[in-house]
Amino acid sequence: MNFEVRKLDGGFGREIVGLDIAGGITPDTAAALKQVWLDHGVLVFRGIGTSPDVQLELSRCFGELEPHPIEKFRLQGYPELILLTNEGGGGGPVYEFDGVATAQRIPWHTDLAFTTTPNAGALLRMVRKAETGGQTGWLDTAAAYDELDDATKDEIADLEAVYLFRPGLEEMRFNQQGGTRLSPRKDQYPDFPPVANPLVWVHPETGRKVLNVSTLNIDHIIGQRNEKGDALIRRLIDHALQPRFQYIHEWENNDMVLWDNRRTMHAALGHPVDQIRVVHRTTIKGGVAMGRVLPNAAKEEMPA
Ligand SMILES: [Fe+2]
Repeated sequence: MNFEVRKLDGGFGREIVGLDIAGGITPDTAAALKQVWLDHGVLVFRGIGTSPDVQLELSRCFGELEPHPIEKFRLQGYPELILLTNEGGGGGPVYEFDGVATAQRIPWHTDLAFTTTPNAGALLRMVRKAETGGQTGWLDTAAAYDELDDATKDEIADLEAVYLFRPGLEEMRFNQQGGTRLSPRKDQYPDFPPVANPLVWVHPETGRKVLNVSTLNIDHIIGQRNEKGDALIRRLIDHALQPRFQYIHEWENNDMVLWDNRRTMHAALGHPVDQIRVVHRTTIKGGVAMGRVLPNAAKEEMPA
């Protein structure tokens, strides 16, 4: 191996040190990196993400890449790179938190949790960091499952929950952080049907059990659309969000962070709207379905 693996603060995830990407990544090195990714969920590469080509070379070690379905989100000339920035007023809605107009704040979630087939992973490269704030957090939902008590593991073993696409933070049913929307609701999104996914997902490559409580998306437990079911979701989220399951990355320009989307949640902490932050992202294809689209007949499971 032409790299070293180091523990990150807090113990979750690993830093990869000494990897020479520009010199080309051999198949053996790619396979070794993929194994560390599967074992630890999050990989940090500090300071070596100096170009889109370096980011693509590294990303391809972990699977086939998925171009963004909407062309305007792609970086020009690089269909597999997504541009995430608030430059020019982009980057999603602006909310006021504690008196600060905040851009690019996204609460804890698993990407595409509102579909049956989430992506396997994604890799962010910091092109221009915000002067203040702008951290990204990751959370180990496999460890969160492991540390549930046995009675709770039994209780949730066969439960499914409904997960919804949510265009705004104010629509969240759980772990709502408040915040006042400052930007108009002008975004147009496709119509995503409600899906039912298991609360406990078995990771398709490692076989580990994972607590699936994407806080942005979870709506209710199938068959328990009531206070009892909601109390269970609140208890599971409170358990999962404990700091001991988290790693918060303080970005420097040219850092890259890769995550396994099937055993983590992540959150963007946001930054003052008058600061520009630019991130390039690649997405690693999933392909293994975890749940089912709810049939039209299942009206009782639709949100009110
Ligand atoms: Fe995300």
